[in-house]
Amino acid sequence: MPVVKNGTVYYVQQPADLIVPGETVKYVEEEIDLDNVPLNGGVLLKTVALSSDPYMRYRMREPDSARTTFCPVLKLNKPVDNFGVATVLRSEDPNFKAGDFVDGFINFQEYSIWPPPADQMHFLRYITKIDRPASIPASVYTGTLGLAGKTGFIAFDVFGKEKAKTSKTVFVSGGAGAVGTFVCEYAKICNPNIKVIASAGSPEKIKILKDIGVDVAINYKEEDVEKVLREHGPIDIYWDNVAGPTLDAALVNMNSQGVIIACGAISAASKNGEGSAVKHFEEIFERSLTVHGFTVGTGPSAAALPRFYDVVTPLFLEGKITSREHRFTLKQTGEALASVHLGSNLGKAVIVVSEDA
Ligand SMILES: NC(=O)c1ccc[n+]([C@@H]2O[C@H](COP(=O)([O-])OP(=O)(O)OC[C@H]3O[C@@H](n4cnc5c(N)ncnc54)[C@H](OP(=O)(O)O)[C@@H]3O)[C@@H](O)[C@H]2O)c1
Repeated sequence: MPVVKNGTVYYVQQPADLIVPGETVKYVEEEIDLDNVPLNGGVLLKTVALSSDPYMRYRMREPDSARTTFCPVLKLNKPVDNFGVATVLRSEDPNFKAGDFVDGFINFQEYSIWPPPADQMHFLRYITKIDRPASIPASVYTGTLGLAGKTGFIAFDVFGKEKAKTSKTVFVSGGAGAVGTFVCEYAKICNPNIKVIASAGSPEKIKILKDIGVDVAINYKEEDVEKVLREHGPIDIYWDNVAGPTLDAALVNMNSQGVIIACGAISAASKNGEGSAVKHFEEIFERSLTVHGFTVGTGPSAAALPRFYDVVTPLFLEGKITSREHRFTLKQTGEALASVHLGSNLGKAVIVVSEDA
């Protein structure tokens, strides 16, 4: 293997608000000698695909911000890292061999060495070998069979599944994204008779919602969410991906004893920790609601993680859980990271790095 180009994306400037392509991160071409680069007992990875996730904006807050505790901040002038999939090219680690397909938390580089230098190590870093059925594209492991699917599966399985069996209505905000479509489809798997209401922000996304069998699709940018929920509620389970005004509209339309699964707050993500005001917090006690917040891998929902692939891989292969991708190149990482906050991604925002994706 020769000396080759090694495209790398660096985090270079903290954004004041939204991520700015060309300013927040920078694509640089370096070189790597694939045969001779020292592995020091580690592994040489060829990146296949990388995930663009909304929480990456949280990683761009002030390093000492109290709001960054659930994820490590990105270091200025170091490569961006996140969930992704890769192929092992060379290995000095007995746990891996050339040709292995791995899922992990890796650098935004065409080629990288695992483990990274100590100053770039943090508690989210890992790589693990995955047995991928040949019929499943590798990039799916950054979305429906990656973080997004795990997020939807574990929290709905632990906090929503039993409740769904006796519920009439579930509402999913951020419904057309990778997590949202998973939850809409999984709720119907748990109870085929449940009415799924979902919101999203464009006609193209409303079409996605209808295509996956959502009963009531709300364009929250054009419709009065509160009014539509009043018409089709009350809501037994609310899966909240967005917080802000949509959460308020849901709170006043919850059924007594309803359950809220607080998955994300994307409406406030770019605010550098300012948060979003909730007007109707009192509904939590007035309606005897239960609110479950979670991040993947922590708290009670983590108990469902070990069964994720066993349950979800067959559902995916049977077409009961579907996946859509909005593909970007490594050079377009800035656009990919910004897209999930602008709402311009149609499906899982994935950065395709090599032809194996
Ligand atoms: N708890 C966890 O461990 C965990 C793990 C993964 C993801 N999450 C959360 O799950 C949610 C969905 O993630 P995803 O990866 O599937 O992303 P996604 O839905 O594919 O992309 C994010 C979407 O959020 C919507 N959005 C952006 N700004 C908004 C605003 N101000 N108000 C309402 N909607 C807005 C946009 O869609 P529209 O066009 O519809 O506005 C955008 O496409 C995010 O909140 C994310 O942080 C949580």
